[in-house]
Amino acid sequence: MSGIKVFAPASIGNIGVGFDIMGAAINNPGDEIVVKKGAAPGLTIDKIFGDHGRLSKEVEKNTAGKSALALMKYLGKEEEPISFEIYKKMPFSSGLGSSAASAVAGAFAINEYFKRPLSKPELLPFAMEGEKLASGAFHADNVGPSLLGGILLFEYNSLYYQRLYSPEGLTLVVIHPQIEILTSEARAILKSEISLKSHVEQSANLGLFITGLMKGDFECIGRGLKDIIIEPQRSKLIPFFEDVKKSAIDSGALGCSISGAGPSMFAIAQNTFTAERICNAMVEIFSKNKIQTTSYISPINNEGAILL
Ligand code: HSE
Repeated sequence: MSGIKVFAPASIGNIGVGFDIMGAAINNPGDEIVVKKGAAPGLTIDKIFGDHGRLSKEVEKNTAGKSALALMKYLGKEEEPISFEIYKKMPFSSGLGSSAASAVAGAFAINEYFKRPLSKPELLPFAMEGEKLASGAFHADNVGPSLLGGILLFEYNSLYYQRLYSPEGLTLVVIHPQIEILTSEARAILKSEISLKSHVEQSANLGLFITGLMKGDFECIGRGLKDIIIEPQRSKLIPFFEDVKKSAIDSGALGCSISGAGPSMFAIAQNTFTAERICNAMVEIFSKNKIQTTSYISPINNEGAILL
């Protein structure tokens, strides 16, 4: 049997103003898994491509393996012979939700293999098992969108979510400068307390951002997309952050901030034409400073994980 192949996309965690509670899926990059009948009882990770030897083939220590196994146990299929081939097509520690995409692909692959015993939203807790292994913290801002697509808003410390609708034309620009930032380190530098003034300001910004999305009001989206709490603390980990952000805004971006824990940066544009201009301007700043980048332009990916 040649097996089936699934895809789980990258995502922008936080979207600036929604630290740990809001995220959006993009069309690519993403991770793929081929799942087929295995040679021995239980789940085996037979091959991993594209990881340069960095990922464990031990199921319990692998993000995709962990989420897949959690679902197999739940379904009472722990002893079924299953083989995974993992195609890691996303950069590590990039701020693009790489571990989340693997975790989602693992659970999604098992569900497809067993002919969809669970609905997609029901896979969320299983995908979270893999993500928790990778990040050590509980936040579904990458896993949720990678699985379910769209822009999702989560309740604090919970898997309760609401889908936020976005206006037509809204386009995401994501630039990945080729440096690595460990999420754990980018979390460790954050202050655990903020002032009342900061709380009020960020609440207003998040409220405006969401209102702008729901009403299709680009001005309101732009006014809201200002992270005054996390970005000032993390931006120092990203070389030339301020220059790159300025170039995005000067080129017409509604806003620009850090994707997830960084180093990737994202900008939001009103249409693909402006998005291309913004993308070129951001890339130019990095390349002028001898930092290689990979860039992505994408609408919101409303599908999330899919069977290929
Ligand atoms: N919300 C997370 C963070 C996303 O910013 O640390 C990174 O996985």
